[in-house]
Amino acid sequence: MERVKLEVPEYKSTISVEEAIAGRKSRRAFKHDAIKRREFALLVWAASKAPSAGATYPLELYLVIGAGAVEHIEPGVYHVENGYLEPHKDGDLRVELATACLRQMFIADASFSIVITAEYERTTRRYGERGIRYVHIEAGHVSQNIYLECEALGLATVAIGAFDDDEVAKVLNLPEAHKPIYVMPIGVKI
Ligand SMILES: Cc1cc2nc3c(=O)[nH]c(=O)nc-3n(C[C@H](O)[C@H](O)[C@H](O)COP(=O)(O)O)c2cc1C
Repeated sequence: MERVKLEVPEYKSTISVEEAIAGRKSRRAFKHDAIKRREFALLVWAASKAPSAGATYPLELYLVIGAGAVEHIEPGVYHVENGYLEPHKDGDLRVELATACLRQMFIADASFSIVITAEYERTTRRYGERGIRYVHIEAGHVSQNIYLECEALGLATVAIGAFDDDEVAKVLNLPEAHKPIYVMPIGVKI
């Protein structure tokens, strides 16, 4: 696995934000086509552009990428860090991820999944208990950005909240401080 620089692509879609909102829905069927590098970069960009309470930025994104599923990117788990995808764990782990999501096996058909995790401490340090609420709200913002960007690109996604936290952490080999909140499988729409 190699470190991947995330280019910031030109962001201009052919549909309006209103059309994306109107067309958005949860889609659980995916073609096995590879996602184009530009589309991939746009999705990671969109996921990173959400507001954050007090700019505490508690969320950390991990990507579970399948074999031959994203143009020019090797399969594996990557961590999004400062404009790069840092290799985190080897191998196509889509089936393991789907299994950890209470056997919602359609997740394994997606080209890749964005797993939204949080380091709660960054926000609770400042806001106490209320910070927990803020972290969850922020995950919702990221998820909605992904939904709308998928709609703009003709891709399919669905928010997954039903999973075994420990199993997802194990499959991704997450550091103890990064708690999984949401899984967003993404693929080409059927
Ligand atoms: C917090 C949350 C958790 C969800 N978890 C799952 C899930 O585990 N599996 C799934 O198939 N859909 C899941 N969904 C998607 C909902 O089923 C979907 O949004 C709902 O049926 C409305 O359909 P729509 O998104 O097409 O408007 C979840 C949605 C939210 C907001």
